[in-house]
Amino acid sequence: MKSNLKKKIIETINNEMDRAISFSKFMDICLYDSANGYYSSQSNQFGKYGDFYTAPMLGQTFAISLTKQIEQCFLDVDKNILEIGAGNSQLAIDMILNLNQRGVEFNNYYILEKSHALKNYQQQVLQEKLTTELFKKITWVEEFIEQFNGVIIANELFDAIPADVFASFENEIMEKKVGVVDQSFTWILSENKKYFDYEIALGDGIFEFEYSADYKKIFSEFSKAEQMVCFLFDYGMDERQLFHSSRPRGTLRGFKRNLLSENIFQDIGDQDITYHVNFTHLAFLTQKFNLNILGYTHLSHFLNNLGLEIDDANTIKDHLKLLSDINLLTSPAEMGDLMKVMAISKNCQSSLDGFKNFDKTHLL
Ligand SMILES: C[S@@+](CC[C@H](N)C(=O)[O-])C[C@H]1O[C@@H](n2cnc3c(N)ncnc32)[C@H](O)[C@@H]1O
Repeated sequence: MKSNLKKKIIETINNEMDRAISFSKFMDICLYDSANGYYSSQSNQFGKYGDFYTAPMLGQTFAISLTKQIEQCFLDVDKNILEIGAGNSQLAIDMILNLNQRGVEFNNYYILEKSHALKNYQQQVLQEKLTTELFKKITWVEEFIEQFNGVIIANELFDAIPADVFASFENEIMEKKVGVVDQSFTWILSENKKYFDYEIALGDGIFEFEYSADYKKIFSEFSKAEQMVCFLFDYGMDERQLFHSSRPRGTLRGFKRNLLSENIFQDIGDQDITYHVNFTHLAFLTQKFNLNILGYTHLSHFLNNLGLEIDDANTIKDHLKLLSDINLLTSPAEMGDLMKVMAISKNCQSSLDGFKNFDKTHLL
């Protein structure tokens, strides 16, 4: 637990008239406080010795499939890639090497990364792993590139964007804010004064849900591109599934040392905080900003549609590791079903191989 960070949050709460802050503010400080935030202050969150795995940590399969999909997109848009939230840069390394191996030319690989610690780590690792010629193609940008023409990738970006938490009762929605009692954080129910971007189809009964007003800013940036195809990968689902009676407590959770924690008020600044993304919300924003949806499906279908490639392994141990990684990426109980991919576009209407079977856009 980072005690300075906890102290800072308590001070922020005590400075509020109602002695409470929105959960998005709490999450923003925990994850992105410039001195002590979980993402801003360290670069060891990923993989076996970190707190969680993302798809690029599970061998080359994810990067190879995405590279094939990008190669198809390059027939329609300029040969540039913009990755938003590149984490420990594993995906960038594998994709750049893969594009190179396949002889696919590209002009620029841009990275937009909010965390200073991760940006420094990315610069160091990419320089180590790539040839000087390939490294020169990478540019770190501080904000979205207006008039961007190319392919945008964001893996597990939206589930790391601060969200507010609400409780839906029979006829009323209340906001769940964060207060403090005896130096410990606690939930405080408060009148909901917030405006949702669209009419959320709430389920019956009493339940909680997360909602991020910040998604709109990101979609507004996407809409400034000249021409693009953008792939959004995240844990999440459409609204009907998300607001199901089986999920009455919402989907907020923490991760530390690869263990799930339902107490997001502990290990302040030392655990990841995340939640499931509402893809119906993303579909609404796509429409609002005059973008197109090119496809929406489960990660397993996307990977299978692009032809899962299994590398040769030198030893039985490597082969078993490869099979275990592919199982995690495709199994319904793991990332295969829980993670979704949505492709959106501007000034490009191509059909994409990743969605040729089992496109589930109609669910959004
Ligand atoms: C859950 S991690 C995923 C990292 C990586 N894409 C992967 O799959 O391993 C979220 C990443 O998004 C970054 N991030 C969060 N909000 C961002 C924003 N508004 N702009 C750019 N990067 C952001 C975080 O710093 C972190 O690198």
